[in-house]
Amino acid sequence: MAENGNRFIKQANLIDGQWLAADSGATIDVINPASNKIIGTIPKSGKAETARAIDAAAAAFKSWRKTTANERAQKMRKLHDLILANQDALAEVLTMEQGKSLAESKGEVASSAAYILWYAEEARRMYGDIVPSPWADRRIMVTKEPVGVVAAITPWNFPSSMLARKIGPALASGCTIVVKPATQTPYSGLAWGLLCEEAGIPAGVVNIVTGSASEIGGEITRNALVRKLTFTGSTEIGKLLMKQTAGTVKKVSMELGGNAPFIVFDDADLDRAVAGAIAAKFRNSGQTCVCTNRFFVQSKIYNRFIEKFTEAVEQLKVGNGLEDGTQQGPLIDMKAVEKVEEFIADAEKKGGRIVTGGKRHALGGSYFEPTVIADAKPRMRFTKEEIFGPVAPVYKFRSEDEVIELANNTEYGLACYFYTQDLGRAFRVMEGLKYGLVGVNEGLISTVEAPFGGMKESGLGKEGGHQGIEDYLDTKYVCLGGLGL
Ligand code: SIN
Repeated sequence: MAENGNRFIKQANLIDGQWLAADSGATIDVINPASNKIIGTIPKSGKAETARAIDAAAAAFKSWRKTTANERAQKMRKLHDLILANQDALAEVLTMEQGKSLAESKGEVASSAAYILWYAEEARRMYGDIVPSPWADRRIMVTKEPVGVVAAITPWNFPSSMLARKIGPALASGCTIVVKPATQTPYSGLAWGLLCEEAGIPAGVVNIVTGSASEIGGEITRNALVRKLTFTGSTEIGKLLMKQTAGTVKKVSMELGGNAPFIVFDDADLDRAVAGAIAAKFRNSGQTCVCTNRFFVQSKIYNRFIEKFTEAVEQLKVGNGLEDGTQQGPLIDMKAVEKVEEFIADAEKKGGRIVTGGKRHALGGSYFEPTVIADAKPRMRFTKEEIFGPVAPVYKFRSEDEVIELANNTEYGLACYFYTQDLGRAFRVMEGLKYGLVGVNEGLISTVEAPFGGMKESGLGKEGGHQGIEDYLDTKYVCLGGLGL
């Protein structure tokens, strides 16, 4: 058990129902970004441990796939209840390893539970089709079946809910899974192992391996027993994994980077837009792939928006996520701080005006001041690159057509937001934006009931909604002849 007594700080791999160290005994330290202190260690595993986890998942698949949807749904309901019963302890671990505020961590854990419940319900609705046959003496049946062993690689920014979106549909569909959680935030991932055991999910159905990304990822992508890879992370790594999976032709789901525009038209409800802007930019200190990267504000209200938005940004309380009232925790590490500083320096050099923030926070470490930059220009680096930090560049635009073009001028297509009170404009803009998620007069839109996923280089496939289970299923066409009809 970890020093602070939180039982979810589990410092071992879970392979075939056994909690194990790396074969070499090597470990990696896990650091709390708020204090820079070591929370604990995790196994530094590689190819061999991953191959054993895949073998265990393949063996468990033989019986797990034969369980009824109802049996799986019942275990998943138990899992949902256990997550909620342990919400505080799970949120504490999440904040300790990731840095986000306790309120956000509790919300994330609740969202994890909600995904499990949603997929417990969807398990019973994996319908196939009976199709009118072109032959008088044959019938056509289309069935859905689990793809087999799934591998999941998850990021550090949502270490609990990103796994819920993957473990949920895997369990529901009858697949088994091998998980590699992010090295910076592994305990929220390993906690899933404990919870699944307690929910009565059989050994080998959920396996978790920590350690070297290249070795674990290399084995996952190479191993022909893995039939699907689901990844959330950067576009750069997503492309690499897609190349690596080509050799064994796996299904892939990719939740990749974003460059979200947030557009405020002259006719918008300004207070509502400011509240939405805070939510869409500063959630998890700007470290989500749906966080606004570029604010576009129409010329007539540009100055008023900057003023009100800055006032709201200056109210944000920065601190240790475990402390009451904290809204902005530290960034994940010093590399993230340096990246944010580079974006700010580049903007200042090219004429950007820092209205508030702009530097490391007085708290030290990886704390950073929430920042607003006015007079943002297309030539600045954040026009094209994902900031992933608490920096809000604000561009000025004049017309609807102009802003749709500016907003779409990126290889990404994950989330976008716009504010208007004109119904016709709402439809024109919504239809003009090439993004997988659109918030109209809303800055926070993720929910289990709706499909989450990007267009263009932001990814492939959907998570959540009824669509989220499709990638875990193979479709089989059965032609029934010789029926004596
Ligand atoms: C993200 O993937 O970064 C955002 C997740 C969410 O909005 O649920």
